[in-house]
Amino acid sequence: MNIRAAAVIFSIVLTVWLQPAAAEGDPQLGKEQGFTCLGCHGIEGQRNAYPSFRVPRLGGQKSAYVEAALNAYRAGTRPHPTMQAQASSLSDDDIDNLVAWLATYGEAKDSATAEQVAGVEAARICVTCHGVDGAGVQPAPPTLAGQHEDYLVHALNRYKAGERTGNVMGAFAATLTKADIELIASFYASQDGVQTLK
Ligand code: HEC
Ligand code: HEC
Repeated sequence: MNIRAAAVIFSIVLTVWLQPAAAEGDPQLGKEQGFTCLGCHGIEGQRNAYPSFRVPRLGGQKSAYVEAALNAYRAGTRPHPTMQAQASSLSDDDIDNLVAWLATYGEAKDSATAEQVAGVEAARICVTCHGVDGAGVQPAPPTLAGQHEDYLVHALNRYKAGERTGNVMGAFAATLTKADIELIASFYASQDGVQTLK
């Protein structure tokens, strides 16, 4: 190999190597900024006032989903006045940093087994995306295991009412009865999974 070819290859390798990975945030900056988030997401059992439901657990939630949720609140496409206010002033870098900080809590696995789900008729379709079989599904479906029961009910009702749109969930929630929603919510809430931030 001549010197010029070697130099070209070396510079390509160096460029690739020096390139920061896409959307890599700084977890330390995220932690500082995330201090306000802990006022709700870091208090076990903290409630949203109207309607009353417990603030969703974020510890162990999938990074791609957290990022999508923050973008949706910021864009105003996902309704919730408080979270929209929290997200409205965030830059793309702020979101990357918050996501990097939350990723330090690790990623919880949906721990439902096929046998357990088989006992919950209405949840069988759900595990295609949310659960043991759901790895690699795009866009990243959130982890439901370990989530607060009343938050899951609230979220499913929002999809059913067409208030949280722009994703696949409207079609799945539309088929669920009130009893299905209660059964599914208590099923996922009883699993090990996401946790309140510490
Ligand atoms: C005043 C309380 C409060 C504060 C402060 C707060 N949140 Fe939230 N957050 C909520 C509530 C309530 C919801 C559920 C809203 C809904 O129904 O969409 C939520 C939802 C979320 C979700 C979506 C979770 C899911 O499972 O869909 C993410 C991500 C999130 N918050 C991140 C943050 C971050 C990051 C911060 C800090 C910058 C923050 N929140 C600050 C109350 C709060
Ligand atoms: C084709 C894949 C797919 C299937 C099947 C599916 N979901 Fe989802 N689910 C998603 C995606 C993607 C999201 C995130 C949508 C968004 O950003 O609002 C989601 C979001 C949710 C949420 C919101 C969680 C949160 O933290 O806010 C709940 C609850 C939920 N799904 C329950 C169910 C239930 C119950 C079923 C079965 C009846 C089901 N899903 C079937 C892909 C799926």
